[in-house]
Amino acid sequence: MNEHNGIFAGTDPFEIAGRWLAEAEKTEPNDPNAIALATVDSEGLPNARMVLLKEIEKDAFVFYTNYNSAKAQELDSAHKAAFVMHWKSLRRQIRVRGIVSKEDGPGADAYYASRSLKSRLGAWASRQSQPLESRASLMAEVAKVTAKLGPNPPRPEFWGGYRVSPVEVEFWADGAFRLHDRFQWKRRNADSDWQVQRLNP
Ligand SMILES: Cc1cc2nc3c(=O)[nH]c(=O)nc-3n(C[C@H](O)[C@H](O)[C@H](O)COP(=O)(O)O)c2cc1C
Repeated sequence: MNEHNGIFAGTDPFEIAGRWLAEAEKTEPNDPNAIALATVDSEGLPNARMVLLKEIEKDAFVFYTNYNSAKAQELDSAHKAAFVMHWKSLRRQIRVRGIVSKEDGPGADAYYASRSLKSRLGAWASRQSQPLESRASLMAEVAKVTAKLGPNPPRPEFWGGYRVSPVEVEFWADGAFRLHDRFQWKRRNADSDWQVQRLNP
């Protein structure tokens, strides 16, 4: 029997994830939407870094980055990713594994437009993951794009979102004596139904 009730209750993992994130927004000192994003490079060597989860959609999770970055190259070749969110204040984590596609349309334009001007210009100035000679050369690049693009820069073609469409979502909550609660939601693909099972801690 799947007794996923209380904080685990629900028929939709995106809804539960949204609920947990909303709780974390009230308790975490900063960046409650930070996720550790794992990718794999062309040699099969895993890679991980933090990014900010910007949207929980009806059927996917979305974050934004530079399309020339190391992570983007890894995502574009493997089309797969995993991420974990951990909230120290709540003692909970959510793990996600899935298939990745680009969000480089109106959603990306809208999110880019919602960022501060400095962040928008910063996206233009940074050749993310490439070697940088000095801090001064980055600041010079910022000054250059600021002069060139003015107060309304368009979204760079090399900057946008990725959408993770999960096949696995696991909700974990701390329990006494390390007897934690884990509920794993699994589906074969985005069109199939979720199966939920409790896992040993
Ligand atoms: C809390 C936190 C949030 C971050 N959010 C983002 C983000 O949303 N997008 C991004 O591209 N990098 C973000 N970064 C920087 C990444 O961790 C990473 O340094 C950068 O994306 C380059 O990674 P890569 O070389 O593996 O592509 C964040 C870092 C931290 C610590």
